[in-house]
Amino acid sequence: MSFVQRRDRLMSSLDRPLVLFSGAALSRNYPANTFPFRADSNFLYFFERPEPGSAALFDPSDKTVTLFLPERTMGDALWHGEQESFDAAKARHGVQRVMTVEALESHLQTLAKGRQLDSIAVADFKATARARAITGQDLQFDDPAKVGRGEVLDVIAKLRLKKGAEEIAEMRKTAVVTHEAHVAAMKASKPGVKEELLAGLVEGAFARAGCTQAYGTILSVRGEVLHNHHHANTLASGDIVLLDAGAENDMGYCSDVTRCWPVGGAFSPEGRDVYELVLKAELHGISLVKPGVRYRDIHLSASRVLAQGLVDLGLLTGNADALVEAGAHAIFFPHGLGHQIGLDVHDLESFGDRVHYPGRSRSAQFGLAYLRMDMDLAEGMVFSIEPGLYFVPAIIRNPEFRATFKGQVNFDRAEKYLAMNGGRGFGGIRIEDDVLCTAGGSEVLTAAIPKARAEVEALAGQG
Ligand code: GLY
Ligand code: MN
Ligand code: MN
Repeated sequence: MSFVQRRDRLMSSLDRPLVLFSGAALSRNYPANTFPFRADSNFLYFFERPEPGSAALFDPSDKTVTLFLPERTMGDALWHGEQESFDAAKARHGVQRVMTVEALESHLQTLAKGRQLDSIAVADFKATARARAITGQDLQFDDPAKVGRGEVLDVIAKLRLKKGAEEIAEMRKTAVVTHEAHVAAMKASKPGVKEELLAGLVEGAFARAGCTQAYGTILSVRGEVLHNHHHANTLASGDIVLLDAGAENDMGYCSDVTRCWPVGGAFSPEGRDVYELVLKAELHGISLVKPGVRYRDIHLSASRVLAQGLVDLGLLTGNADALVEAGAHAIFFPHGLGHQIGLDVHDLESFGDRVHYPGRSRSAQFGLAYLRMDMDLAEGMVFSIEPGLYFVPAIIRNPEFRATFKGQVNFDRAEKYLAMNGGRGFGGIRIEDDVLCTAGGSEVLTAAIPKARAEVEALAGQG
């Protein structure tokens, strides 16, 4: 679908005019020193390569789109280079009008003719404050209940959730770049190398391809820290490196991939068993993907594979179904199986559970409560499948869990994993791919990134 078609689809479902904001580049310390600009994903969905500080009015009554852009000044041309003229922007985007964003409020008074406007909160708090003042709505970016009017969020989510061929093409590109980054890190993983060198290789591979990190690179021999952004450890033989990193390209699309490999090129017997089990659960989860399947059921089915494997390893005791029902497996698999991916790494997560748990509510059970989506899969959705097993002291030594799961979790055996690697512990293993739901089942967009145990062992440290 072209950008014009997307905007037409949006307008045919709106009952009121909608003003969207791209947001501006956010400052790091003093105002002129900014992070690289990244437009709000809803704006990116409707406009190709938008510029900072833009806004747009979608008017369903006459099906027109007005784009509001910053006034072109000599100072901007001096510091940031010549900007596209309003005429060029109008032609490139195929909108009906381009006007100055500095006079947005007075333009809107004329264009909206007294009608109630809708908007959506964005990460740029100034733009959100402007949206609040214009619409009178109580908008807040970090509160899903206040990110926008529910009906408007539903219309946008319906468009964004099922990816078009042109969006999948972008995600295939980021998968190629992500592949290169993961292999570079695998190859460089020799004892004595610092994690930060590997992180630099990953981010360098992204930058060389004109991409950025879709999210802060998670690279650590402490893989049990789920979102570990610290890269200060030195690799030692026996460590398992966990890399969760994905590229984002100039169209805003991203990948989200996790791989693990052993420093020194061979997993310990414990590492091998856990790796094979996580991989088995991942492949099992992927095998269940097809339209109509409830994602939560895939999560639970993959959880049962993990639970049975943990029984075989002597870490759990009992029947896999009963263990998952009770949530005992979550001592080692404490997160959800995955989430939507697209323009956001957790696509549309800011819209909250009205999108990701449609007509359903989240479980309060530890582990299941972190499942980010519970929707029926449909052709065109792209989401992650990312099981993992972790040895987290704070969980394994939690007195409440020790009491609740006394007969189901072998805590003494788990302690042995915490004592491994000279007391540093086993760490954690996660394997994550980006899966497209197709008419006949699924396609793994990130399938080329090595994950068979023999493959990652052969690559580790071979650079
Ligand atoms: N990269 C974060 C996640 O996998 O959800
Ligand atoms: Mn993920
Ligand atoms: Mn990830």
